[in-house]
Amino acid sequence: MATYNLKINGQRKEVEADADTPLLWVLRDHLNLVGTKFGCGIAQCGACTVQVDGEAVRSCSLPVSSIEDKSVVTIEGLSENGDHPVQKAWIEHDVPQCGYCQAGQIMNAAALLDNNPSPSDQEIDSAMNGNICRCGTYIRIKAAIKTASTY
Ligand code: FES
Ligand code: FES
Repeated sequence: MATYNLKINGQRKEVEADADTPLLWVLRDHLNLVGTKFGCGIAQCGACTVQVDGEAVRSCSLPVSSIEDKSVVTIEGLSENGDHPVQKAWIEHDVPQCGYCQAGQIMNAAALLDNNPSPSDQEIDSAMNGNICRCGTYIRIKAAIKTASTY
């Protein structure tokens, strides 16, 4: 057990945890940031996606000891009022169905557009590949990413 000084959604947070505790559990159990979801636990579904230093990562498979000095953004910190371009486009296209995968989808899409503001169809497919949606909202996700890229 050790103390980790983390930067989460722009705020410093101290957390006591074992070095190999996944970031996902630190977010959910220690910091009550439950917007980030547990799906597979083995980096295969994308439900737990957050951003670390602007890159989309699977928080279920990232030990807390690896993220000190890095900046973590979760769905709760993506925008103050739910008005990030990706969130606005998600509403415009009514993307979610059950919603379970959607925080991960949005965090991945937002990272994609930060790094590539006008992605091609192929680039969207490649970036979003691996974020699984059991409700099959893929067509609306892609349309919303295209809309967000025009804002
Ligand atoms: S819960 Fe992390 S990728 Fe599935
Ligand atoms: S909206 Fe249900 S799993 Fe994606």
